[in-house]
Amino acid sequence: MAQLKHPPRAARPRPATRLLAPLLAAALAAPAGAQTDRPVDAVDLGRYLVRTAGCNDCHSPGYAQQGGHTPESSWLTGDGLGWRGPWGTSYAANLRLLVAGLGEDQWLQHVRTMRPRPPMPWYDLQAMSEADLRAIYRYVRQLGPAGQAAPAYQPPGTPVAGPVVQFPGAP
Ligand code: HEC
Repeated sequence: MAQLKHPPRAARPRPATRLLAPLLAAALAAPAGAQTDRPVDAVDLGRYLVRTAGCNDCHSPGYAQQGGHTPESSWLTGDGLGWRGPWGTSYAANLRLLVAGLGEDQWLQHVRTMRPRPPMPWYDLQAMSEADLRAIYRYVRQLGPAGQAAPAYQPPGTPVAGPVVQFPGAP
């Protein structure tokens, strides 16, 4: 802070509060590390949310199995791992293709009203702020479309090829 490095030499001592006020304001506005921990730029924030809210765990191929080492170029391209339970078998959608076909407001409307099958935690998305949902959109949108559509949902009782995570209860 310039005023601390170069205090006025004149016999015009500043009241302590004039020096402390900016420091206090800065301390209140930025609790330890907050500014660097949570990005401000929408795209960076979206990337941060996609990582920390766990979207990659299901929507990025092999992400959980590889300890998060799936390259970013493949993030959110969907996965062929089936989630099998009383609802049938669901597959984490390719969000890169979904977002490429939606405007930002359409995305907002979609994620706030959708009721996808388990284990998609739609209720977590609906607890997010509008700014966070828009940031996710902007991040995924700038990644661009990639990959193929995930396998189609299969109703209960339909046998599926490929690996599945079996939930309790009859499929
Ligand atoms: C535990 C696994 C899991 C996690 C974590 C998860 N999803 Fe999903 N998601 C799924 C599955 C499975 C589906 C498909 C559900 C269906 O078939 O109805 C899905 C569907 C969706 C859909 C609807 C796709 C469409 O075509 O309408 C969106 C949007 C979505 N997920 C976004 C997200 C975002 C954003 C996150 C992170 C905040 C996230 N998901 C985290 C498993 C997951």
